[in-house]
This record gives sequence, structure tokens and C-alpha cells, in this order.
Amino acid sequence: MTTLQNLPADRLPDLLRGMPKAELHIHIEGSLEPELIFRMAQRNGLTLPYASVDDLRRAYAFTNLQSFLDIYYAGASVLLTEQDFYDMAWAYLERAKADHVVHAEIFFDPQTHTARGVSMQTVIQGLHRACEAARGALGVEATLILCFLRHLSEQDAFETLEQALPFRDQFIGVGLDSSELGHPPEKFAKVFARCRELGLRLVAHAGEEGPPAYVWSALDVLHVERIDHGVQSIQDPELMKRLARDRVPLTVCPLSNLKLCVFPRLADHNLRQLLDAGLAATVNSDDPAYFGGYMNANFTETFAATGLTTAHAYQLARNSFEASFVDAAAKAAYIERLDTFFATFQ
Ligand code: ADE
Ligand code: ZN
Repeated sequence: MTTLQNLPADRLPDLLRGMPKAELHIHIEGSLEPELIFRMAQRNGLTLPYASVDDLRRAYAFTNLQSFLDIYYAGASVLLTEQDFYDMAWAYLERAKADHVVHAEIFFDPQTHTARGVSMQTVIQGLHRACEAARGALGVEATLILCFLRHLSEQDAFETLEQALPFRDQFIGVGLDSSELGHPPEKFAKVFARCRELGLRLVAHAGEEGPPAYVWSALDVLHVERIDHGVQSIQDPELMKRLARDRVPLTVCPLSNLKLCVFPRLADHNLRQLLDAGLAATVNSDDPAYFGGYMNANFTETFAATGLTTAHAYQLARNSFEASFVDAAAKAAYIERLDTFFATFQ
């Protein structure tokens, strides 16, 4: 592997854009572009409380996580049919391919839909069909991770799991998302224990807005394998040591953190400190339709703002494959592809 130490600075954006990468933190409902929201509302006979695409886009001015979630759930309410879920996922997968994302592990929020009377089958099968089609048509490998909404009860999560189990072969794991503050991971200890028994892979949002204590309990109570966000871990030196020692992946989302005011400016983002402390950080888009950028925008804008280097680029792409939920042979094949890209880039 070359770290391309002599790469001219103006070639770095092309390297970032072209390198093969995995996306491990993308909420599929957060990829729903305003144009698609309007098209689906129209075909489903729904009226939106916004006059136009531009009017809706103007509402995308967030002050914190909750101010975003309110609009995000409203946007997702246009999804009714299996074709809607397919079309949403397909649009994302085409964008992923354009950004040289070769592997995506995609979050979905079934409770947002089942609470409106949409069946679990409609949700999962629409998304799963798009993932299957992407393998052949786009060369993108995609799998699904079911997220429980943490502002709802653990009982509701258990009922959601029951509804999803007939489709067990169509998702690889479970996660925990939505309003973080006031909803610590331990609220979901029992349902995560059950998911673990079922052999599901486990992840959770922790330390996005919430304290390092939430990252500790995601690790030690829920036994998750990756932390989504985790940027607040930097406040706790012991936690940083633990994350580095165990190479616990963090799925960091820089443009999301900027738009939700977790950091005042992209230049203040702590991605570089996380990497330099030996943490297995990755770059991801979270909710790209709402935060102003898909994967490559997250890479290029963050590198431009924080002065990350070619060596960091390689490390981030490599971390994304190492942190993915694929077997050792698939991981090795992805990393070989990455190494070939770096060895031949000019
Ligand atoms: N759901 C969608 N995006 C999210 C985020 N950034 N944090 C928590 N829940 C979410
Ligand atoms: Zn997220």
C-alpha cells in the first residue's frame, strides 16, 4: 500500500471521490430528497404542509437533533407502498455508486411507518428488493439494519422485532436511533439481549449529543459492535482508551454534526483527533438529503476544512471495510481493491 505522500494537494479531492469505500451510517429515510417527497405525496394523494420543493428545503435549518427529527419524520410520512420504499432505496443506491460506495449497510426506521398503518412486509420487501437489484445492476452490495426508535418504549421495540422476524433473512442487524438525550441505551437492554441471542449484529447511536456515559452503556449493557457517531467520547479519556484498545468502530457523520450544531464549524470537527488517538473512525452521510451531502461531499468538505491527509484518507476507507459486517474473505477482497486503487492512483 502506498500512502501517496507526494500527492499534490489539488489531487486529494479526486482521490477521496474515487477511492472505494463502505457506508455504514445512512438512514434510508434521510436520503429522501425533497423532489421525491413531492412526487410520492402526489402519487399517493397526500397534501404536504409546504407549497413547493424550495419551500420544504427552506425548512431545513436545524438547531439540534430534535429540530431535524421533527421534519425527517414528516418527510417519511409520504412513504406508503412497497414501490415507494423501493424507489427511495434505489435513488440512494444510485448516489452511492456515483460516490464509489461499493458496500452499504443501510438503516431503516420501521416504527415510523408501521405506526401509520404501513405493514412491516411493505417496508422490508421494498428496501430489500432494491438492495438485491443493486448488486447486479450497480455493483453495490447493500444490506439492511433495523433501527428501534429510542423515544418509544422498549415494549414497542419488542413488538417491532416480532413483526420483523418473519423477514429475518432480509436484515442483518439492529440499531438504536432518534432522540438521544433522556433515552439512554440501557432503556433497551432486554430487547438488545434478545437480538443478540437471535444472532443479529448490534449497533447504536451514542455520543452524538448525549454524554460519554451513553457510549459506555451502549458498549457494556447493549454489547454493540459499532458506535454510531460517538464524537462526544472525546470528553472522556478513559473511554477514548477503551475505544482505541478494542478498535470499536465509530461511524462519524461530519456534515450531519455541522448541520445539527454538534460542532459550530466543520473546521472544529474532531475527526482528526479521533483518528490520531487510534480510534477506528469512519466517514458517513447519516441523512444526506437533509444535511447537504452524500459520501463524497462528507469526505471532500471535511478534508478541506480540517487538513486531513492522504494517509487519513486510506485509513478511513480501510476502517470502513474493517468495520463492515461482512466475512473475513469479503473484507480482504475490499481491502485489496482499496490497495490497488491507492497503488495505481495518479
Ligand atoms: N435518525 C435519523 N438521523 C438520526 C441521527 N443523526 N441521530 C439520531 N437519530 C437519527
Ligand atoms: Zn444517524
